[in-house]
This record gives sequence, C-alpha cells and structure tokens, in this order.
Amino acid sequence: MLDFVVAAAISYLLGSIPNGLILGKAIWGVDLRQHGSKNIGATNAWRTIGKAGGISIFALDFLKGAVSAYLGLHLGGSELAGVLCGILAIAGHSWSVFLAFKGGKGVATGLGVIAALMPMVTLIVFAVWFAIVYFTGYVSLGSIVGAALVPILTLFFGLHTEFLILGLIAAVFIIYRHKSNIERLLNGTESKIKAAR
Ligand code: G3P
Repeated sequence: MLDFVVAAAISYLLGSIPNGLILGKAIWGVDLRQHGSKNIGATNAWRTIGKAGGISIFALDFLKGAVSAYLGLHLGGSELAGVLCGILAIAGHSWSVFLAFKGGKGVATGLGVIAALMPMVTLIVFAVWFAIVYFTGYVSLGSIVGAALVPILTLFFGLHTEFLILGLIAAVFIIYRHKSNIERLLNGTESKIKAAR
C-alpha cells in the first residue's frame, strides 16, 4: 500500500511539471500562456516556438504519463494501480500544483499513459491521430478522435476492465478540455498546424 501511495504522489507531482511553460520560457523566452491557443502543450509550442519546441515538449509530457503508469504498475503492483497513477499524471498536467491548479489538455501525457499500459492501442491511436493531423492540419481534431478511440479499441481488443474505465475517463476528460477547440472547429476559426500538407 505504501508503495502505491508513493507512486501516486510521484505521478501527480510529475504530471504537474509544466514542461511547456518551463522550456518555453527558459530556452525560447516565450510564455505559451500569452500566445496562440494559450495552452501550455506541444501543439501551441509548435505553433508559437516551432518544431523543436513542439517535439521536445511533446516528448517530456509523454514521458510524464508513461513513467507514472509504469510506476503504478510496478510499484503499485496491479493494473488498477497503473491506471490510477496514469489518471493522477493527467490530472497533475491539467490541474498543476505549480500553476495554481491550471494546466494543459492532457493529450501527450495521456498518450504516454496508454503507451505504458496498452502499446497496441497506442500505436493505432497515434496512426489515426497522425493521419488526421496530416490531412486536415487540425491537431485538436486528431486529439479528440484519438481520445474517443481509446475506449473503443480497449473493448475491441478485450483488454482489462480497468483499462476500459481509464479509456472512458480520459476520453471524456480530454474531449471536455477541448471545448474551446470544438467551438473553433465548428465556426471555422481553429488554427491549423503549419507542417501539415
Ligand atoms: O494537445 C492539445 C491539442 O489537441 C490542441 O492544442 O493548442 O490547439 O489547443 P491547442
């Protein structure tokens, strides 16, 4: 039990580290909260700072999720512990203790969580996300569809019930966090990522 509590605390704190804000300010002198979508995630970093910023912040945010779920699985010792630590990492990213409980939308961190728990689902979700971003230029659309796919694929592959519950919670949460993007997609004002076709 103590091991799980330690893993859970580390997961929330790790998730809370605002990589986009830290790197943006330290390396590029940019506060992402003042630019573009105002989000601290990789998409807004790519949009505001460029490819290097987007990729490095994606990688660090992804790692937060993957390490947390891994810690849950191996310190906590069960699929349920992995799922709970993953959810805590996503919650930390979105309600960061270092940002007065504000934060990002949880996509890269969520992808890291499912990568540690469900690699096959992650590969399919990433491929679909990539195709949508490549053909439409809308990262948010890829994220919304990708999030919705996780519980569907979890059911399709007959994976643990805990993973299905994670998929459902993460999908609802991530789609909800994209409500401003959904409004912009519907009224045609969502910005496209430049490197798309
Ligand atoms: O991962 C977040 C992405 O789906 C949307 O980012 O900056 O366009 O709100 P953004």
